[in-house]
Amino acid sequence: MVADLGTQFDAVVKPSASSSMKTATPPVRKPPGPTRLSGGLGFKRYGPSTIKESNLPIINEKGMVIGYGVAYEGFVLDIRQEPGVLEAFTKVYDTPDLIVSFENVNMAFPNGTDLPPNKPLPHQDQDPKWPGFRGMQGIINIFPNCDDDGGLIASKGGHLLSEEFHEHFKNDPPPLCPSTTEWYGYKEEGLAWLKDRGCEWVKVNTEPRDLILWNSRTPHYNLSPTGTNPRFCAYTCYMPAAEATQEDIMRKKIAFETTQSTTHLPDAIHVGGVPIVRDGKPRPYNTGKPRQPPRLGEVGMKLTGIPTSRLSKIHISKAFNIRWYIIIAATN
Ligand SMILES: [Fe+2]
Repeated sequence: MVADLGTQFDAVVKPSASSSMKTATPPVRKPPGPTRLSGGLGFKRYGPSTIKESNLPIINEKGMVIGYGVAYEGFVLDIRQEPGVLEAFTKVYDTPDLIVSFENVNMAFPNGTDLPPNKPLPHQDQDPKWPGFRGMQGIINIFPNCDDDGGLIASKGGHLLSEEFHEHFKNDPPPLCPSTTEWYGYKEEGLAWLKDRGCEWVKVNTEPRDLILWNSRTPHYNLSPTGTNPRFCAYTCYMPAAEATQEDIMRKKIAFETTQSTTHLPDAIHVGGVPIVRDGKPRPYNTGKPRQPPRLGEVGMKLTGIPTSRLSKIHISKAFNIRWYIIIAATN
Protein backbone atom coordinates (compact mmCIF):
# COMPACT_ATOMS: atom_id res chain seq x y z
CA MET A 1 0.00 0.00 0.00
CA VAL A 2 1.31 3.44 -0.87
CA ALA A 3 2.09 5.59 2.15
CA ASP A 4 0.27 8.73 3.16
CA LEU A 5 2.53 10.98 1.18
CA GLY A 6 1.13 14.19 2.60
CA THR A 7 2.26 13.52 6.15
CA GLN A 8 5.67 12.05 5.35
CA PHE A 9 7.22 14.61 3.09
CA ASP A 10 7.87 18.31 2.81
CA ALA A 11 5.34 18.63 0.03
CA VAL A 12 3.31 16.55 -2.34
CA VAL A 13 2.32 18.66 -5.32
CA LYS A 14 -0.07 17.89 -8.08
CA PRO A 15 1.20 19.09 -11.45
CA SER A 16 -0.79 21.86 -13.04
CA ALA A 17 -3.70 21.22 -15.36
CA SER A 18 -1.36 21.76 -18.28
CA SER A 19 0.19 18.40 -17.45
CA SER A 20 -3.16 16.70 -18.04
CA MET A 21 -2.75 14.83 -14.78
CA LYS A 22 -5.52 12.46 -13.92
CA THR A 23 -4.83 9.91 -11.25
CA ALA A 24 -7.04 7.27 -12.79
CA THR A 25 -5.75 7.71 -16.30
CA PRO A 26 -3.08 5.29 -17.49
CA PRO A 27 0.04 6.64 -19.15
CA VAL A 28 -0.43 7.85 -22.72
CA ARG A 29 2.01 5.23 -23.89
CA LYS A 30 2.83 2.17 -21.86
CA PRO A 31 6.46 2.42 -20.79
CA PRO A 32 8.67 -0.44 -21.84
CA GLY A 33 9.42 -2.94 -19.13
CA PRO A 34 12.82 -4.47 -18.51
CA THR A 35 11.99 -7.27 -20.90
CA ARG A 36 12.74 -5.01 -23.87
CA LEU A 37 16.13 -4.25 -22.45
CA SER A 38 17.08 -7.88 -21.91
CA GLY A 39 18.27 -8.14 -25.48
CA GLY A 40 17.45 -11.78 -25.83
CA LEU A 41 19.78 -12.76 -23.02
CA GLY A 42 17.26 -15.12 -21.46
CA PHE A 43 15.35 -12.95 -19.02
CA LYS A 44 11.57 -13.16 -19.26
CA ARG A 45 9.43 -10.50 -17.62
CA TYR A 46 7.03 -13.05 -16.13
CA GLY A 47 9.51 -15.84 -15.58
CA PRO A 48 10.99 -15.55 -12.07
CA SER A 49 13.34 -18.46 -12.70
CA THR A 50 15.00 -16.41 -15.43
CA ILE A 51 16.17 -13.79 -12.92
CA LYS A 52 19.82 -14.74 -13.14
CA GLU A 53 22.80 -12.57 -13.68
CA SER A 54 23.68 -14.47 -16.85
CA ASN A 55 20.26 -13.70 -18.36
CA LEU A 56 20.38 -9.98 -17.75
CA PRO A 57 22.36 -6.94 -18.74
CA ILE A 58 25.03 -5.97 -16.23
CA ILE A 59 23.18 -4.53 -13.24
CA ASN A 60 25.11 -3.60 -10.14
CA GLU A 61 24.09 -4.47 -6.60
CA LYS A 62 22.19 -1.19 -6.32
CA GLY A 63 20.07 -2.03 -9.36
CA MET A 64 21.88 0.47 -11.57
CA VAL A 65 22.17 -0.22 -15.28
CA ILE A 66 25.06 1.92 -16.40
CA GLY A 67 26.09 0.64 -19.81
CA TYR A 68 24.22 -0.17 -23.02
CA GLY A 69 23.65 3.51 -23.86
CA VAL A 70 20.56 3.26 -21.65
CA ALA A 71 20.85 6.94 -20.75
CA TYR A 72 19.86 7.66 -24.36
CA GLU A 73 17.09 5.08 -24.81
CA GLY A 74 13.97 6.65 -26.27
CA PHE A 75 11.85 6.27 -23.15
CA VAL A 76 14.57 7.90 -21.05
CA LEU A 77 14.77 10.83 -23.47
CA ASP A 78 10.98 11.13 -23.30
CA ILE A 79 10.97 11.17 -19.49
CA ARG A 80 13.52 13.99 -19.43
CA GLN A 81 11.21 16.12 -21.57
CA GLU A 82 7.98 15.25 -19.82
CA PRO A 83 6.10 18.51 -19.11
CA GLY A 84 5.24 17.56 -15.53
CA VAL A 85 8.89 16.85 -14.78
CA LEU A 86 9.99 20.15 -16.31
CA GLU A 87 7.27 21.98 -14.41
CA ALA A 88 8.54 20.62 -11.11
CA PHE A 89 12.15 21.57 -11.74
CA THR A 90 11.12 24.96 -13.14
CA LYS A 91 9.51 25.65 -9.77
CA VAL A 92 12.57 24.40 -7.89
CA TYR A 93 14.94 26.71 -9.74
CA ASP A 94 12.47 29.48 -10.59
CA THR A 95 13.45 29.38 -14.25
CA PRO A 96 12.39 27.33 -17.28
CA ASP A 97 15.88 27.64 -18.76
CA LEU A 98 17.31 24.37 -17.54
CA ILE A 99 19.85 21.79 -18.59
CA VAL A 100 19.49 18.11 -17.80
CA SER A 101 21.75 15.29 -16.70
CA PHE A 102 22.29 12.19 -18.85
CA GLU A 103 21.59 9.64 -16.17
CA ASN A 104 20.86 5.96 -16.15
CA VAL A 105 18.03 3.75 -14.95
CA ASN A 106 17.49 1.38 -12.08
CA MET A 107 15.99 -2.07 -12.47
CA ALA A 108 16.35 -4.14 -9.34
CA PHE A 109 14.96 -7.66 -9.23
CA PRO A 110 13.73 -9.70 -6.28
CA ASN A 111 14.51 -13.33 -5.68
CA GLY A 112 17.56 -13.53 -7.88
CA THR A 113 19.57 -16.58 -6.96
CA ASP A 114 22.92 -15.22 -7.99
CA LEU A 115 22.45 -11.45 -7.88
CA PRO A 116 24.85 -9.55 -5.62
CA PRO A 117 23.48 -8.43 -2.23
CA ASN A 118 22.72 -4.77 -1.77
CA LYS A 119 24.20 -3.53 1.49
CA PRO A 120 22.95 -0.15 2.75
CA LEU A 121 25.27 2.64 1.68
CA PRO A 122 24.01 5.85 3.30
CA HIS A 123 25.46 8.84 1.48
CA GLN A 124 24.83 12.29 0.11
CA ASP A 125 25.60 13.18 -3.49
CA GLN A 126 27.34 16.45 -2.80
CA ASP A 127 30.88 17.46 -2.03
CA PRO A 128 30.93 18.11 1.73
CA LYS A 129 33.10 21.15 1.02
CA TRP A 130 30.30 22.70 -1.05
CA PRO A 131 28.24 24.85 1.29
CA GLY A 132 24.51 25.19 0.80
CA PHE A 133 22.28 23.96 -1.96
CA ARG A 134 24.00 22.24 -4.89
CA GLY A 135 21.15 20.61 -6.75
CA MET A 136 17.86 18.78 -6.63
CA GLN A 137 17.92 15.15 -7.65
CA GLY A 138 15.03 13.33 -9.23
CA ILE A 139 13.61 9.84 -9.67
CA ILE A 140 10.72 9.13 -11.99
CA ASN A 141 9.10 5.93 -10.88
CA ILE A 142 7.86 3.50 -13.54
CA PHE A 143 6.66 0.43 -11.63
CA PRO A 144 4.62 0.50 -8.40
CA ASN A 145 7.03 0.90 -5.52
CA CYS A 146 5.72 0.00 -2.09
CA ASP A 147 7.11 -1.38 1.17
CA ASP A 148 8.59 -4.59 -0.26
CA ASP A 149 9.57 -3.23 -3.66
CA GLY A 150 12.87 -1.59 -2.75
CA GLY A 151 13.56 2.02 -3.64
CA LEU A 152 14.71 5.23 -2.06
CA ILE A 153 15.07 5.64 1.68
CA ALA A 154 16.03 9.11 2.91
CA SER A 155 16.89 10.82 6.17
CA LYS A 156 14.10 13.31 6.60
CA GLY A 157 15.51 16.72 7.50
CA GLY A 158 19.12 15.55 7.19
CA HIS A 159 19.91 18.08 4.46
CA LEU A 160 19.22 20.95 6.85
CA LEU A 161 21.92 19.66 9.17
CA SER A 162 24.49 19.07 6.44
CA GLU A 163 26.77 22.03 7.09
CA GLU A 164 26.70 21.49 10.84
CA PHE A 165 27.37 17.81 10.27
CA HIS A 166 30.45 18.39 8.12
CA GLU A 167 31.80 21.00 10.52
CA HIS A 168 31.43 18.49 13.34
CA PHE A 169 33.11 15.65 11.40
CA LYS A 170 35.64 17.71 9.44
CA ASN A 171 38.60 15.90 10.99
CA ASP A 172 37.11 12.45 10.44
CA PRO A 173 37.80 11.32 6.87
CA PRO A 174 34.75 9.76 5.21
CA PRO A 175 34.79 6.67 3.03
CA LEU A 176 35.96 7.82 -0.37
CA CYS A 177 34.32 7.35 -3.72
CA PRO A 178 37.03 6.67 -6.28
CA SER A 179 35.24 8.37 -9.17
CA THR A 180 33.84 11.60 -7.75
CA THR A 181 34.28 14.20 -5.03
CA GLU A 182 30.53 14.87 -5.19
CA TRP A 183 29.76 12.09 -2.72
CA TYR A 184 30.02 11.58 0.99
CA GLY A 185 29.54 8.23 2.72
CA TYR A 186 28.23 8.17 6.27
CA LYS A 187 29.91 6.08 8.93
CA GLU A 188 28.23 4.69 12.05
CA GLU A 189 29.16 7.73 14.12
CA GLY A 190 27.65 10.04 11.56
CA LEU A 191 24.44 8.05 11.38
CA ALA A 192 24.18 8.13 15.17
CA TRP A 193 24.74 11.91 15.09
CA LEU A 194 21.81 12.30 12.68
CA LYS A 195 19.63 10.01 14.76
CA ASP A 196 20.39 11.99 17.92
CA ARG A 197 19.05 15.07 16.15
CA GLY A 198 15.77 13.44 15.26
CA CYS A 199 16.39 12.50 11.63
CA GLU A 200 14.30 9.47 10.78
CA TRP A 201 14.78 7.25 7.75
CA VAL A 202 11.74 7.37 5.48
CA LYS A 203 11.11 4.79 2.77
CA VAL A 204 9.57 6.66 -0.14
CA ASN A 205 6.68 4.64 -1.52
CA THR A 206 5.42 5.69 -4.90
CA GLU A 207 3.20 4.72 -7.76
CA PRO A 208 4.06 4.83 -11.46
CA ARG A 209 4.48 8.38 -12.73
CA ASP A 210 5.43 9.81 -9.35
CA LEU A 211 8.44 12.12 -9.36
CA ILE A 212 10.58 12.16 -6.21
CA LEU A 213 12.71 15.24 -5.62
CA TRP A 214 15.46 15.40 -3.05
CA ASN A 215 18.16 17.87 -2.16
CA SER A 216 21.57 16.41 -2.97
CA ARG A 217 22.63 17.02 0.63
CA THR A 218 19.99 14.59 1.87
CA PRO A 219 21.42 11.38 3.36
CA HIS A 220 19.91 8.50 1.39
CA TYR A 221 20.45 5.04 0.00
CA ASN A 222 18.41 2.48 -1.86
CA LEU A 223 16.78 -0.78 -0.91
CA SER A 224 16.42 -3.86 -3.07
CA PRO A 225 13.03 -5.53 -3.59
CA THR A 226 12.22 -8.24 -1.06
CA GLY A 227 8.76 -9.16 -2.36
CA THR A 228 7.81 -10.31 -5.82
CA ASN A 229 7.91 -7.07 -7.80
CA PRO A 230 10.96 -5.57 -9.49
CA ARG A 231 11.85 -1.93 -9.11
CA PHE A 232 12.07 0.13 -12.29
CA CYS A 233 12.77 3.85 -12.38
CA ALA A 234 14.79 6.51 -14.17
CA TYR A 235 16.95 9.21 -12.67
CA THR A 236 16.95 12.77 -13.93
CA CYS A 237 18.25 16.06 -12.57
CA TYR A 238 18.27 19.62 -13.85
CA MET A 239 20.01 22.89 -13.10
CA PRO A 240 19.74 26.43 -14.47
CA ALA A 241 21.42 26.66 -17.87
CA ALA A 242 22.96 29.98 -16.82
CA GLU A 243 25.09 28.18 -14.23
CA ALA A 244 26.90 26.06 -16.82
CA THR A 245 30.20 27.26 -18.25
CA GLN A 246 31.37 26.84 -21.83
CA GLU A 247 33.65 24.05 -20.63
CA ASP A 248 30.67 22.31 -19.03
CA ILE A 249 28.74 22.51 -22.29
CA MET A 250 31.68 21.12 -24.23
CA ARG A 251 31.77 18.11 -21.89
CA LYS A 252 28.03 17.67 -22.32
CA LYS A 253 28.42 17.81 -26.09
CA ILE A 254 31.05 15.10 -26.05
CA ALA A 255 28.92 12.99 -23.72
CA PHE A 256 25.86 13.40 -25.93
CA GLU A 257 27.66 12.69 -29.17
CA THR A 258 29.28 9.58 -27.76
CA THR A 259 26.14 8.52 -25.81
CA GLN A 260 28.03 8.46 -22.53
CA SER A 261 26.12 8.89 -19.32
CA THR A 262 26.79 11.44 -16.60
CA THR A 263 26.21 11.47 -12.87
CA HIS A 264 23.30 13.45 -11.47
CA LEU A 265 25.17 16.71 -12.02
CA PRO A 266 23.78 18.38 -15.16
CA ASP A 267 27.00 20.34 -15.65
CA ALA A 268 28.57 17.00 -16.56
CA ILE A 269 31.47 17.14 -14.15
CA HIS A 270 31.63 13.37 -14.50
CA VAL A 271 31.16 11.77 -17.92
CA GLY A 272 31.22 8.05 -18.56
CA GLY A 273 30.37 5.06 -16.46
CA VAL A 274 32.19 1.99 -15.28
CA PRO A 275 33.48 -0.94 -17.32
CA ILE A 276 30.68 -3.31 -18.30
CA VAL A 277 32.30 -6.65 -17.68
CA ARG A 278 31.41 -10.10 -16.43
CA ASP A 279 34.14 -12.38 -15.18
CA GLY A 280 36.55 -9.68 -16.21
CA LYS A 281 35.43 -9.78 -19.85
CA PRO A 282 33.61 -7.02 -21.74
CA ARG A 283 30.01 -7.86 -22.58
CA PRO A 284 29.45 -8.13 -26.34
CA TYR A 285 25.88 -6.81 -26.12
CA ASN A 286 27.10 -3.58 -24.57
CA THR A 287 27.90 -1.35 -27.52
CA GLY A 288 27.53 1.80 -25.45
CA LYS A 289 24.74 2.82 -27.82
CA PRO A 290 20.96 2.83 -27.39
CA ARG A 291 18.92 0.65 -29.71
CA GLN A 292 18.03 3.68 -31.83
CA PRO A 293 20.24 6.75 -32.25
CA PRO A 294 19.02 9.51 -29.90
CA ARG A 295 16.79 11.97 -31.70
CA LEU A 296 15.60 15.10 -30.00
CA GLY A 297 13.32 17.95 -30.92
CA GLU A 298 13.58 21.53 -29.79
CA VAL A 299 12.77 20.96 -26.12
CA GLY A 300 15.12 18.02 -25.78
CA MET A 301 18.04 19.74 -27.49
CA LYS A 302 17.56 22.87 -25.42
CA LEU A 303 17.78 20.77 -22.28
CA THR A 304 21.13 19.38 -23.35
CA GLY A 305 22.49 22.92 -23.42
CA ILE A 306 24.26 22.13 -26.67
CA PRO A 307 23.89 24.90 -29.26
CA THR A 308 22.66 23.62 -32.59
CA SER A 309 21.29 25.12 -35.74
CA ARG A 310 19.79 21.86 -36.95
CA LEU A 311 16.81 20.58 -35.08
CA SER A 312 14.89 17.55 -36.07
CA LYS A 313 11.16 18.05 -36.40
CA ILE A 314 10.34 15.03 -34.34
CA HIS A 315 7.36 15.36 -32.11
CA ILE A 316 8.14 13.93 -28.70
CA SER A 317 5.05 12.38 -27.22
CA LYS A 318 4.62 12.32 -23.48
CA ALA A 319 6.08 9.28 -21.85
CA PHE A 320 4.28 9.73 -18.58
CA ASN A 321 1.81 12.19 -17.21
CA ILE A 322 3.40 12.81 -13.85
CA ARG A 323 0.97 12.12 -11.00
CA TRP A 324 2.63 13.88 -8.11
CA TYR A 325 5.85 15.60 -7.16
CA ILE A 326 7.04 14.30 -3.84
CA ILE A 327 9.46 16.76 -2.31
CA ILE A 328 11.28 15.11 0.55
CA ALA A 329 13.89 17.81 1.05
CA ALA A 330 13.35 21.41 0.12
CA THR A 331 16.14 23.50 -1.30
CA ASN A 332 17.10 25.37 1.87
FE1 LIG B 1 22.72 8.84 -4.31
